[in-house]
Amino acid sequence: MKALFFTAALAAALPVQAEQFSVNIPELQNEAKGVIKELVTTLGSELKAAKEEGGAIAAINVCNTKAAGLTKSVNDKSEWQVERTSLKLRNPQNAPDQWEKAILEQFESKAKQGANLKTLGFSQVVVDEEGRKVFRMMKAIPVADQCLACHGSKIKPEIAEQLQTLYPEDKATGFSTGDLRGAFSLKKYL
Ligand code: HEC
Repeated sequence: MKALFFTAALAAALPVQAEQFSVNIPELQNEAKGVIKELVTTLGSELKAAKEEGGAIAAINVCNTKAAGLTKSVNDKSEWQVERTSLKLRNPQNAPDQWEKAILEQFESKAKQGANLKTLGFSQVVVDEEGRKVFRMMKAIPVADQCLACHGSKIKPEIAEQLQTLYPEDKATGFSTGDLRGAFSLKKYL
């Protein structure tokens, strides 16, 4: 399926610097998708293993303590920096920067218009504060059934309690399957 990369139309609505321009670079977009796939696979299998061994509470601990490390090991292997972010955060450390926030807001409004979240993405080449060109891409993360145990509206009391302890400012609950949960955000210096 062809991804919906809305580029030119959105650029004008962003808080852009003068040098910023929108792009559609298939090689970089495909590379980025490969990085996301690797991260999803690694995180997914770690989560599954922990769940089988120690239940959902153990799985939370994988997410909490290991997700950052896994993200880093994916990053070390490539020139890509990859993060997860959202407008409804669980961990405040995953807060979006200004660019990411603007894209997430666009994703929200696209979602409301019924866009297919599985293929919703945005990419752009921006110039950072030091004048370096960086390719940035975001890809929407839809909520799947298996996310509801920790992000849904009927979270088991023992899980809710653990989440409350680890993330007292948790805003990442109450989701339904198909909702926009957040996005992967990737960077590569050109
Ligand atoms: C076992 C519980 C659990 C399950 C299941 C789970 N998550 Fe999470 N999720 C967490 C925890 C804990 C964090 C906070 C991680 C951190 O500290 O960075 C989190 C963070 C996130 C974030 C980062 C943004 C933020 O709010 O901090 C995204 C995006 C996310 N989850 C999406 C998903 C999606 C999509 C699924 C289903 C495919 C899912 N999660 C399943 C527990 C879970």
